[in-house]
Amino acid sequence: MSEIESLKQESRIFEPPADFVSNATISGMDTYRAMCSAAANDYEGFWAALARKNLSWHRPFTKTLDESEAPFYKWFEDGELNVSYNCLDRNLQNGNADKTAIIFEADDGKVTKLTYQELYERVCKFANGLKSLGIKKSDRVVIYMPMSIEGVVAMQACARIGATHSVVFGGFSAKSLQERIIDAGAVAVLTADQQVRGGKHLPLKAIVDEALALGGCEAVKHVVVYKRTGDAVKLTAGRDLWLHELVEKQAAACEPEWVSAEHPLFILYTSGSTGTPKGVQHSSGGYLLWAALTMKWVFDIKPADVFWCTADIGWVTGHTYIAYGPLAVGATQIVFEGIPTYPNAGRFWETIQKHKTSVFYTAPTAIRSLIKAADATPEVHPSKYDLSSLRLLGTVGEPINPEAWMWYYKNIGREKCPIVDTFWQTETGGHMISPLPGATPMVPGSCTLPLPGIMTAIVDEAGHDLPDGQGGILVVKRPWPAMIRTIWGDPERFKKSYFPEEFGGKLYLAGDGAIRNEKTGYFTITGRIDDVLNVSGHRMGTMEIESALVANPIVAEAAVVGKPDDTTGESICAFVVLKRSRPTGDEARQIAKELRDWVAKEIGPIAKPKEIRFGDNLPKTRSGKIMRRLLRVLAKNEEISQDISTLENPAILEQLKQAL
Ligand code: WT7
Repeated sequence: MSEIESLKQESRIFEPPADFVSNATISGMDTYRAMCSAAANDYEGFWAALARKNLSWHRPFTKTLDESEAPFYKWFEDGELNVSYNCLDRNLQNGNADKTAIIFEADDGKVTKLTYQELYERVCKFANGLKSLGIKKSDRVVIYMPMSIEGVVAMQACARIGATHSVVFGGFSAKSLQERIIDAGAVAVLTADQQVRGGKHLPLKAIVDEALALGGCEAVKHVVVYKRTGDAVKLTAGRDLWLHELVEKQAAACEPEWVSAEHPLFILYTSGSTGTPKGVQHSSGGYLLWAALTMKWVFDIKPADVFWCTADIGWVTGHTYIAYGPLAVGATQIVFEGIPTYPNAGRFWETIQKHKTSVFYTAPTAIRSLIKAADATPEVHPSKYDLSSLRLLGTVGEPINPEAWMWYYKNIGREKCPIVDTFWQTETGGHMISPLPGATPMVPGSCTLPLPGIMTAIVDEAGHDLPDGQGGILVVKRPWPAMIRTIWGDPERFKKSYFPEEFGGKLYLAGDGAIRNEKTGYFTITGRIDDVLNVSGHRMGTMEIESALVANPIVAEAAVVGKPDDTTGESICAFVVLKRSRPTGDEARQIAKELRDWVAKEIGPIAKPKEIRFGDNLPKTRSGKIMRRLLRVLAKNEEISQDISTLENPAILEQLKQAL
């Protein structure tokens, strides 16, 4: 039985615990349904009321949704606000000044706590520092920083002065960083001397230097360096300066820059099926509204909660559920520098116990790897820790298999915590399909139902609705406030990628397949329908990796496919043809290693193929098209049952069958 077939058959249902339901922000399915009807009956009125209630506006908006230039939708456009004001000043006024905003848990276990008052002052000083460098509203600032208080402060400081930030994950190479700096037209880069993960120091500033030296980044006038480790780094006079020196003399208050709700808060690069990564542009008002609302609806956040999202600020999860959402609702959150397996695989459970975490949000890959670790090393089994503070669990980034869901439910949640399996994307800004923990009965492996106001549907190739039980293409039928606004600098690509003409230009195309259960109406995501891979919840385009491989002078041709992986969900498998004869044995192993390191340098270590197979050629049709579906079968080491009559060179399949 295929994985999808077994998910369709999944019949276990877990009702939300009664005491959770009675205290929940959204309590019971009737409330959920009433909210959905309210949205259906008066879509704009539904969102307008939420935006008025949940955000502080400097100038109220008069028009909710402007569809005149669809699909370039505008929400609350004539309204003015400041995101950092909503995340900080508002908390000082609400009596949260002395409440802990951030509990920073360093790689080595050292803890630093910051109140909302202290966070406010740090952000204001940083913002004033940026201003003193001449950085102003609408300038783009690239942030290449580790998981740190400073990283969050940097993002908030940009928001405070109306600068648009673009955070680049610390695992990307100098070349990837350079491409993003150029595409965004950044005037400054904020970084750190090093990043510390799993006891290792990794250079960040040196990579920034390398990126800028690659050329084309002349717009960058300043590099601000946060001193994390104090290891030696080179500062270029006139361009580079230490963060602590920049902020020390700055005032601890900074008037926020009031911006239109449509002002771009950030650009975040993500992979598509073709071309270079896309700069997903997000708004200020609509985005923040959804960050705050989903904190309340999906994470049921309450004043006493200790929230912990384990994502990195380099991904959208770390934007919405670390840098913005938790602060917008005045929550206390943990910011974690380290990795799940250092000093041992009990680190997550130890940290939950230590800080009395109540809401915990992580990726299925982490859960799967910790299941293995708990089996292998009983000392770090979750049963060894006091996890009684937990009341809600969440997952994100990739499908969670029912076995992992059950383990999480039993061993971490001790059968008393609901699990929210949240489906969303960089482009959606926040959760789209997810259980509401005090309402939705849960089914392992299903993200269940769309959130109120989110009009998801499953359609066929022609854009027509499909009946339940039939798998198809996941779309969103109405614009929503937190949606992507455009691809930075490429509005045509935005239209083509997300609102294709084939669908009348009106349906948002998520890029995922989905199926809805005939009885429950629940959604199950069946995976990407384009050439995008999801490795450990990290999104990568096969084309990007292929381009990186063929950029190597010894490579003639390359094709990359995803291969199912027990831990990482998918892994990268590359089929490579060299300009020289096909290597075998030790030589093949040696060249494969060189190519992996090459990809790490071109894109970043996260894009390294796990497996490389060499061939004299690739399976192609007579018209020269690479038959990727055959490569996918080969990667899985399965027998080819497909029709191969259109294949030009069937003999090649035998050669590519053997893994190294
Ligand atoms: C892709 C988006 C969501 C923020 C982090 C990743 C996959 C995401 C789920 C889920 C099944 C999921 C989809 C989606 N995905 N969440 N709960 N169940 N698949 O954001 O890097 O933009 O990746 O991740 O394929 O399209 P992203």
